[in-house]
Amino acid sequence: MPDLSVNLAGIGLRNPLIAASGTSGYVDELADVLDPRALGAIVTKSITREPREGHPPWRMIDVPQGMLNAVGLANVGLDRFLAEKLPAAAGLDTIVVGSIAGDTVDDYVAVAAAFDAADGLPLVELNVSCPNTDDGQVFGEDRESLRRLLAEVRPALANTKMLVKLSPNVSDIVAMAKTAIDAGADGLTLINTVSAMAIDVETRATRLSRGVGGLSGPAVHSIAVRMVHEVYRHVAAEAGVPIIGLGGVMTWSDAAELILAGATAVGMGTALLIDPRSPIKVRNGLRQWVQRQGCSSVGELVGRVADA
Ligand SMILES: Cc1cc2nc3c(=O)[nH]c(=O)nc-3n(C[C@H](O)[C@H](O)[C@H](O)COP(=O)(O)O)c2cc1C
Repeated sequence: MPDLSVNLAGIGLRNPLIAASGTSGYVDELADVLDPRALGAIVTKSITREPREGHPPWRMIDVPQGMLNAVGLANVGLDRFLAEKLPAAAGLDTIVVGSIAGDTVDDYVAVAAAFDAADGLPLVELNVSCPNTDDGQVFGEDRESLRRLLAEVRPALANTKMLVKLSPNVSDIVAMAKTAIDAGADGLTLINTVSAMAIDVETRATRLSRGVGGLSGPAVHSIAVRMVHEVYRHVAAEAGVPIIGLGGVMTWSDAAELILAGATAVGMGTALLIDPRSPIKVRNGLRQWVQRQGCSSVGELVGRVADA
């Protein structure tokens, strides 16, 4: 049987599949329905310095080939996460990745420093799809804002690997990836949700309370494949920086596409909300695919799409 284990920025994962942030609670919720050993790692919901209620309903809706959400980073906040949620997550037999969000650079630094000092989080992921309340720019949609954020966060992570989760809502994803790598990212996660909107034509109201939200699921998969491919080809492969590819992975072949495009690991988000046990089928399908490709390990297929 081929080897599915992968090395993600120096951290060994038993397989390339990662539960995406915001879709498996604080980790132990997912473990109630799925043996965490079916996954290589689990990313927590994004944690902010203070607790957040999030946006009012509706904040998650179905749309063709996907879903829209504007949850608004509802979470228990840093203190309760460290006291209650992390100890439960750290007891599970899987790698836990701490996700960080914030309104200001100081917010990110405070959560990063606390995660770095905590036991049980070998990797953190910065969710940079948040607007900076100081200048209104979304950190991950403006190169200078991203550079300034990472310059402050990087030194706070002395013991922990830093993954930067990029926003697809930019015209030049390679430029954002390069900025993150130059600022010391140990890995890149892409993509976060795609900015989108839905309207109820009878009431004429937007279907999400916030109007605009983030599109995920099969509708975004081909965008993710293209972005992973471009980032791998133009900057990440040469820099030796691994990519976690995600966006609309529902089946093993979706995951395989992202691996061929250049992803070392593959996230699953919306799929877990539909069927939390779907990673088992994806993992088994990947193993058979690696074998059919005549490879002894999944790592041999990373970035191996044939030239167009
Ligand atoms: C309900 C929901 C909540 C999410 N919350 C977060 C979050 O807190 N932090 C984050 O970085 N991404 C969050 N995401 C984005 C996912 O982690 C993922 O990047 C995106 O959904 C694309 O993957 P998918 O198509 O497999 O869902 C959320 C997605 C959904 C659907």
